Amino acid sequence: MARRTHECVHEAENAQLHYAPAHFYETQPGKGYIDDVDQYSQMYRESIDNPELFFDKMAKEFLHWDTPYKAVKSGSLADGDVAWFLNGELNASYNCVDRHAFANSNKPAIIYEADDEVENRIITFGQLLRKVSKVASLLKSWGVKKGDVVTIYLPMIPEVIITMLAVVRIGAIHSVIFSGFSASSLRERIIDSKSKVIITCDEAKRGGKTIHTKDIVNESLQGINSVTYVLVYERTHNKTIAMSPTRDYWWTEEVNKQPNYCPPVPCNAEDPLFLLYTSGSTGSPKGIVHTTAGYLLGAAITTRYVFDIHPDDILFTAGDVGWITGHTYALYGPLSLGTATIIFESTPAYPDYGRYWRIIERYKATHFYVAPTALRLIKKIGEAEISKYDISSLRVLGSVGEPISPELWKWYHEKIGNKNCVVCDTMWQTESGSHLLAPLSGVTPTKPGSATVPFFGIDACLIDPVSGHILEGNDVVGVLAVKCSWPSMARSVWNNHDRYIETYLKPYPGYYFTGDAAGRDHDGYYWIRGRVDDVVNVSGHRLSTTEIETCLVNDKYVSAAAVVGIPDDLTGQSVVAFVSLQNDNEIDGPVSFHRELILQVRKEIGPFAAPKAVIIINDLPKTRSGKIMRRVLRKIASNEAEQLGDLSTLANPEIVSEIMEAVKTQF
Ligand code: WTA
Repeated sequence: MARRTHECVHEAENAQLHYAPAHFYETQPGKGYIDDVDQYSQMYRESIDNPELFFDKMAKEFLHWDTPYKAVKSGSLADGDVAWFLNGELNASYNCVDRHAFANSNKPAIIYEADDEVENRIITFGQLLRKVSKVASLLKSWGVKKGDVVTIYLPMIPEVIITMLAVVRIGAIHSVIFSGFSASSLRERIIDSKSKVIITCDEAKRGGKTIHTKDIVNESLQGINSVTYVLVYERTHNKTIAMSPTRDYWWTEEVNKQPNYCPPVPCNAEDPLFLLYTSGSTGSPKGIVHTTAGYLLGAAITTRYVFDIHPDDILFTAGDVGWITGHTYALYGPLSLGTATIIFESTPAYPDYGRYWRIIERYKATHFYVAPTALRLIKKIGEAEISKYDISSLRVLGSVGEPISPELWKWYHEKIGNKNCVVCDTMWQTESGSHLLAPLSGVTPTKPGSATVPFFGIDACLIDPVSGHILEGNDVVGVLAVKCSWPSMARSVWNNHDRYIETYLKPYPGYYFTGDAAGRDHDGYYWIRGRVDDVVNVSGHRLSTTEIETCLVNDKYVSAAAVVGIPDDLTGQSVVAFVSLQNDNEIDGPVSFHRELILQVRKEIGPFAAPKAVIIINDLPKTRSGKIMRRVLRKIASNEAEQLGDLSTLANPEIVSEIMEAVKTQF
């Protein structure tokens, strides 16, 4: 990566600064929290120069503490022993439920938009407190205690939020597995976390289809005797599903008989709050560990300042709670501030492309937060639906999970926002817990395609990947890193602290490494260029190419596999798999074999990881030391064969023309 590139300067020069439209301020329910960009800069400097002072103020303002902390922060990135708010005690469930229920028990907390609109419900903070308490009491009666991991495998229904809050209420740790994951992915995660209790449902509903959730759980638990309890919420009331008489319990029978109040257990600030498995460069998924106080504070302050959330606002985060976006911005951010959150069970296309806009109209949502992939789909197919609805309640349009192109950014601003809203592109990660780079709505001028500037406490920097040196000044391109710890950063990988250090803290000693490349333009704005490791981002879902490769080589005919991500108009990136075979004479025929391999990935990992194409070749391009040159495959599959770059280290250069031919016949 060059130190200064024309491309970087070019992006910035083309980018026009956008200021918040008058409508945003006119409809702001009260004064903004931050006056202007000068105040942001001054606060940002304070958060970097004196984080103890800055975050002490924040932690006192935003969180309720049972026991005050003795020190604001300790440890270092170099040693991998970061800790915040030492010896303080608090409970996340109390912070997200009780204190708001005490203030106004009738205030909506969860607005549930069901797959079928007739099943919609609203749960107030008062009701939420009772529901969370009942599940917490049940878990306690089952012997779940502080530090135990409870696996949650539920779709986007209020019970997923209730369960997460119930788990943390008694000091246990939740591990939510995205409901699109297959039985074997679920199994791997249950085993890794050593969960003894699983919470799931009979079946799920999505886009009018029924998903056999409990069957998937049953399959995942085959031969695992360590799981002692499975709680099954009756989403469809299908009583014919297979239940183990000694292990499985119906939600209604067990939960309803519990008391209405369960006292929250004070937790140490650094007690783990949850695990969330994510993909990395190596095959097995990592259980990212977030801790109680730092994470919750990051969620609360980013929701307040980045989104300019006011108490009566309605936040519609369209992402699934099985991913970090749902954890932070459908649950912990809004509920810690006492703001209502919309939990959406369905898809943007069901029963028609007006779904999102109907939801916004119905509940007068003020904030909409979505991945660009959904916007691309709507832009391509469902644009005509938008004008049928009154979505003028919107003030902030958030984007997350993948880069949003300047064109799509402008479309979002004009077609959804009617030029009346702030577009807020937020760059962050499972590991960061909350926003790393993002504009503060109504404060930071924006540029289409840029996630703008770092949030408070994020000492962002770019590093030259070759020299490992920090790139000073503007108009530079490098890898994105952070110089100091921030409260909501992940503390560890579950049961594997070495892997945490290796992945995030060792590549550039003393810094947290994001895994992304980025440019910083002449105004100091950041432009994310995508991952520099083997992670692919399909529709905002983070996938490990190695994990998919491992799944493909499990097929008895496949001898080697290489998976790459290529640009895709709809999903941002898509997965293309190259495989070489052991003995191609034995396969049934290439078409059915391709299908079989794709099915295998769907089954082993989940439908969202399925390759768009499987290309069979005689051999993979390898270096003399036997390393697969994925760059060659990526360039050819992306139709950029003219930019293959230096091939001198390739041990089998003759393979290149064969791959080009194979790709041509496939696409
Ligand atoms: C990418 C999702 C560009 C990035 C919250 C990051 C983005 C990875 C953006 C984390 C954005 C996330 N612009 N790229 N606004 N937001 N990414 O852990 O590559 O699922 O490292 O967290 O998504 O994905 P994860």
